[in-house]
Amino acid sequence: MITILGIESSCDDTSAAVIRDGLLLSNVIASQSVHEEYGGVVPELASRAHQQNIVPVVDAAIKRAGITPSDLSAIAFTRGPGLLGSLLVGTSFAKGMSLGLRIPIVDVNHLHGHVLSHFIREKEHDEVPEYPFLTLLISGGNSQLILVRSYNDMEILGRTIDDAAGEAFDKCAKIMGLPYPGGPHIDRLAAEGDSHAFKFTKPHIPGLDYSFSGLKTAFLYTLRDAVKQDPDFVEKHRAHLAASIQRTIIEILMEKLAKAVEQTGVKTVAIGGGVSANSGVRDAVAQFCQERGLKAFIPARKFTTDNAAMVAIAGYYKYLDHQFCPYDAAPYARVTV
Ligand code: KG4
Repeated sequence: MITILGIESSCDDTSAAVIRDGLLLSNVIASQSVHEEYGGVVPELASRAHQQNIVPVVDAAIKRAGITPSDLSAIAFTRGPGLLGSLLVGTSFAKGMSLGLRIPIVDVNHLHGHVLSHFIREKEHDEVPEYPFLTLLISGGNSQLILVRSYNDMEILGRTIDDAAGEAFDKCAKIMGLPYPGGPHIDRLAAEGDSHAFKFTKPHIPGLDYSFSGLKTAFLYTLRDAVKQDPDFVEKHRAHLAASIQRTIIEILMEKLAKAVEQTGVKTVAIGGGVSANSGVRDAVAQFCQERGLKAFIPARKFTTDNAAMVAIAGYYKYLDHQFCPYDAAPYARVTV
C-alpha cells in the first residue's frame, strides 16, 4: 500500500491531500481571502497566510483520510512554478515533516499536477486517460497545448506568446469593473447574454501558439468608444459583453486545439487549470470531442483550481519510479512542463 501526502502552496491556496494507491482519501484547501481588497495576489501576504494555514491544513488532511502520519510512504510537494515565498513554505514544511517521519520527499512540477489531475480516482472504477493524450492547460499564468506520452514525458506543442487565457478573462472583467479574479464573474454573466452581440478581432498566430493580449486591447477600445457615447453602456450590456468575450476566447482556444488534434492524431483530449472551470469551455470541449468520436476528460471543478490532490497523484507516479528529491532542492519560480 502506497500512501502519499501532497502539499500545494504555489500561489494563494494552501492545500494538503492524501492519496492511497491512486485513490483520493482527503483533499483540504484553505483559500486566502486577504488578497481580495488588492485586486490580485500579494506575494508577501500569501507567504504569511501559507505559514498560518499549513499546519492545520496538513493535520486536517491526515485526519480526514483516517490515517496517521506513520502510515505515509512519502510526501509530495509543489516545487514550482509559482511565487517563491509561497513555494518555500510548502517545500520547507515537506522537508521537515519527511525528516521527522524518515520518509522520502518527491518534488512536483505544478503544471504536471494539473495535467495528471485526471488520474485522481475518487472511486475504484473511475476512468483515467490512456496515453498518449492532448491536454489544453489553461490557467491564470499558462495557456498550453501539451502532448502527454506518459506521466513524465510531456511535450509542449503550443503556448501563449503573451497573456494567458485566464488573464484575458481577468483583464476584460477588470475593464468591465468586475472584481478579481474576473473569470468566474464573466462565466456567470455570460449565461444570461447573447454571445454574438459584439464581435472582436481574433489574433492570427501561426502554428499552435496562442495570443490573448490583442483581444484585451480590442475589448478596451470598444468599451472606451462606447462609453463616450453612452456612460451607462457597460452597465446596460454587461451580460452581452461577457458572453461575447467568453465566446471569442473559447473560439481562439478551440481553433488551436482542433489543429493539435489533427496534427497528433490523438484519440483523447483533456483540459485542466483554473479556466477549465469555465462552463463555455467545458461545453465546447465536450461537444468538439463528441463530434469527432474522441474521449474527453473534463475535470471536476474542485480539481481545476490549485489543489494538493493533483500534487499527490503526480508524486505517486514519481514515487513508483523511485524519483525522490534531495534535501537541498530549492523551489523554482518559473518552468514549463
Ligand atoms: O489555475 P488557477 O487557479 O491559477 C493560476 O494559474 O493563477 O487559474 C486561475 C484563473 C484565473 O484567471 C481565473 O479567472 C480563472 O482561472 N477562472 C475562470 C473560471 N474560474 C477560474 N475563468 C473563466 N471561467 C471560470 N469559471
